[in-house]
Amino acid sequence: MLNKKLDLYLKENYYPFHMPGSKRTNVLRNDLPYERDLTEIDGFDNLNDPKDIFVIMENRLSKIYDVNKTIISTNGSTSGLLSVIRALTYDNQNILIERSSHKAVYNACELNKLDVSYIDIITNEISAIVDINYDDFEKKISSKNFSCVVITSPSYEGYILDLDKIYKLCQKHSTKLVVDMAHGSHFPLTDCYNISFDVAITSFHKNLSALTPAAAVLVNDLDIYDEVKRNMAIFQTSSPSYVILQSIDEMIEKFSTFNKLYENLMNNLLYLYSQDFKNLQVIDNKFKDKSKILISTNNTNISGSKLASILKEEKIEIEMAYPNYALLISTIFDRKEGFDRLIKALYKIDNDISRMYNKSSFTFKIPNKSLEIYECINLNKNIYTLEDSIGKICGDFIYAYPPGIPILVPGELIDEDIIKNIKFLLANNINMNIIDENISCIN
Ligand SMILES: Cc1ncc(COP(=O)(O)O)c(C=O)c1O
Repeated sequence: MLNKKLDLYLKENYYPFHMPGSKRTNVLRNDLPYERDLTEIDGFDNLNDPKDIFVIMENRLSKIYDVNKTIISTNGSTSGLLSVIRALTYDNQNILIERSSHKAVYNACELNKLDVSYIDIITNEISAIVDINYDDFEKKISSKNFSCVVITSPSYEGYILDLDKIYKLCQKHSTKLVVDMAHGSHFPLTDCYNISFDVAITSFHKNLSALTPAAAVLVNDLDIYDEVKRNMAIFQTSSPSYVILQSIDEMIEKFSTFNKLYENLMNNLLYLYSQDFKNLQVIDNKFKDKSKILISTNNTNISGSKLASILKEEKIEIEMAYPNYALLISTIFDRKEGFDRLIKALYKIDNDISRMYNKSSFTFKIPNKSLEIYECINLNKNIYTLEDSIGKICGDFIYAYPPGIPILVPGELIDEDIIKNIKFLLANNINMNIIDENISCIN
């Protein structure tokens, strides 16, 4: 739709006395899409107030995702989360979020001065987050009147929550359910897709074909649509990228062909999951999206980061490494050649390593809260060594990136267990936002 219209427009040879500044010149690299970069010129609609092409694209997305309304984001799920959480929390500042929420959710809590409660999470033998603690959730949601509940499903590692169960409880307590589905844009192709939510946010760039950071807000509850949309125009750029929008258009146009590609992907994945390694373990279960390839190094003499660096020597780049596993992301656009190279490399590594007891000693823990996140912004802070920070109130977010899930949040009390966790991650070469093993604490 957008692409076809632009094809025709470009043939007309209009001279661009308008933005963008690159003016379809030929003095710049021709492998960058200057030729198709555009702005809201006559006939090409306005994403922040759509009336024409973007309404059609959003309607087609609503059909694909089986929801009432869709709002396109050219600024990632990040702006979707900021917009949705703001729109839902004007009258009630109490929010219940999964502890393993992405940093964008925490940023929304800071911006909107929210009083945050956390849903406890459950990890597996490699310390991947696999579920929420449903008893804890039930207890928390009954304890207070929350404006909304924010959960992540699927998780970065592909674990899927029981949305039916969670949504029922949210409805019972008149609380809106927001699902951070950033990692599940491909779910309509699978049999794990579930529309039990008031609103979900998904990143097309993570699992489908649209360019980074294409995303969308999927709205079921029409009562909140207008306000979410108004907020999207606040948190998105006023110059949305037409190159990203064209890639979303291309994704919509080709979507009907994606089922076949998904079938191919599943065949390649099933072949991978059927391999029999002596030491490495490719983790799978029925509540997990198979396209997230989790390779456990538990009980071997290497860490997840070491596995990542050996794979890199084999010219295979992975998504993320944690102490006891490596995460590889596959999509419908992967090719058999890639899987063949991966399997070959894994057998080689598997033969070169040996068994050794090295079970993960990392346990997610929710620290005690002394202050809300927003209360910490203007307080005086000082830098302390990890050891000296014990007993103090944390002044900053501490997280490993990826995945960007905070281990410590501003206002939380630092204790020995948390410091042990941070040291464990640092010792395993996990990339953290800590400089020289120092933490900012509130005086
Ligand atoms: C769970 C989760 N939610 C939201 C986001 C933000 O998505 P985006 O990069 O599309 O802004 C991420 C990013 O990695 C994520 O992992």
